[in-house]
Amino acid sequence: MALVTSGVEDRSAFLAHISSQTEMLYSETEYRGIRKKGRCDFLYYVTASTGAVATGAAIWPLINSMNPTADVISQSRISVDLIGLAVGARITVKWAGKPIFIWHRSLKTIAQARATPLEDLVDPIDYRNENPNNSQDMSALDINRSADEAGEWLIVIGVCTHLGCVPLGQDGSTVGEFGGWFCACHGSQYDPSGRIRKGPAPRNLDIPPYSLGPDLILTIGA
Ligand code: FES
Repeated sequence: MALVTSGVEDRSAFLAHISSQTEMLYSETEYRGIRKKGRCDFLYYVTASTGAVATGAAIWPLINSMNPTADVISQSRISVDLIGLAVGARITVKWAGKPIFIWHRSLKTIAQARATPLEDLVDPIDYRNENPNNSQDMSALDINRSADEAGEWLIVIGVCTHLGCVPLGQDGSTVGEFGGWFCACHGSQYDPSGRIRKGPAPRNLDIPPYSLGPDLILTIGA
């Protein structure tokens, strides 16, 4: 079970909290519907890919922004239990007012991401403020952007670096030409490392500060 906790420790309380927050969850279909109406502000949604459903993994993502106390907490740190998140699954959580894309990447996706040479990248350098998990500016190689050495986990901020729309792709469809995310606002395309490959966005997707332990508890926030 992938469980997002933001001060809701008890499971039953957590589930009750989810149900009280359902109005804050947007499926990608709903998101697109809103987009068609011309709204291009930050819309936060939670979605799990079909891969997760197919394997029967129970995922309980939570967007937690209406409770004032939890909202204050979300500005600093949240924890996400990634155990049970199937290979291929993508989920979105909210941290510090931003959607955070979490992707349990397959071996095929990792191989694709790691085979991309720096020369093919629009933005080959991740500066420290773009990936605060690195102690210095680093090349945008996949190994420097993924959360673990093997590259199974990718955690990026789901905000297009062009004008701030939330790119599509978290449901596994509309992933664009490069298999990562597609920003429908003006056509920016990101690869499976969250690197900009085509379109007007000038930079790779930013990476939040986080730690991922061997127990697969992801802590996002300083
Ligand atoms: S905001 Fe993403 S392409 Fe313009």
